[in-house]
Amino acid sequence: MAVVKLFYGSTNGNTQSAAHLIKAALGDLLSDVNNIAVASTRDLQDADVLILGVSTWERGALQRDWAHFLPQMDGLDLRGKKVALFGLGDAKAFSGLFVNALRILHDTARERGAEIIGAWPADGYDFAYSAALEGDHFVGLVIDEENQSDLTVDRVGRWAALLRPYLTGRAANDEVIG
Ligand SMILES: Cc1cc2nc3c(=O)[nH]c(=O)nc-3n(C[C@H](O)[C@H](O)[C@H](O)COP(=O)(O)O)c2cc1C
Repeated sequence: MAVVKLFYGSTNGNTQSAAHLIKAALGDLLSDVNNIAVASTRDLQDADVLILGVSTWERGALQRDWAHFLPQMDGLDLRGKKVALFGLGDAKAFSGLFVNALRILHDTARERGAEIIGAWPADGYDFAYSAALEGDHFVGLVIDEENQSDLTVDRVGRWAALLRPYLTGRAANDEVIG
C-alpha cells in the first residue's frame, strides 16, 4: 500500500485542526500527520503520496513554518510522487489574496517533479482574486474557518473521497477520477 504522509504548517491552529479532520476522514490510509515546523526533507522523501497543508499570511505569503522550510525543498526530488494540497485563508478580510500560499506550495511541488492531485471546485467561495485558482478549480482543497467554518467537515469529507482512489492505488485511469 502507498505510504501517505501529511505535513502542515499552522500559526493559530486552524490548518492543524483541518489536518486532523483529514486524518479522521482517511483513517489508516494516512500514515501520519506532521508539523512542518519539526520535519526534515527525509520525512517527506520516504512517502509515495504527500498531503501538504498551508495557511496564507502576511498579504499572500506562506505560513511562517513553511516559509522557513521552503529553501530545503530545493534539494527534494518529488518525481514519481503524488502531492495533494490544502489551504486555509479568509475570503472576506483578504478577498484579493485569498489562499495565495497554496499556489506557492503547488508550484514548488510541481517544480520538484510531483504529480499534483486533489484540485477542488471554486464554487461556493466569495472572493475577488486568488493566485491558487486554475480555471474554475483551486489547486487544492480550500478551507475558510473565518467565514465558512460550518462547511469545513463536509468539504474535508468530500475531498478525502476524491483522494481515496489515489491512496488505495485504484486510480488506474486518472482521467476518470480527476
Ligand atoms: C495578519 C494576518 C494575515 C493574513 N493574510 C491572509 C492572506 O493574505 N490571505 C488569506 O487568504 N488569508 C489570510 N489570513 C487568514 C489566515 O490564513 C486564516 O486565519 C487561517 O485560518 C490561519 O490558519 P492557521 O491558524 O493554521 O495559521 C491572514 C490572517 C492574519 C491574522
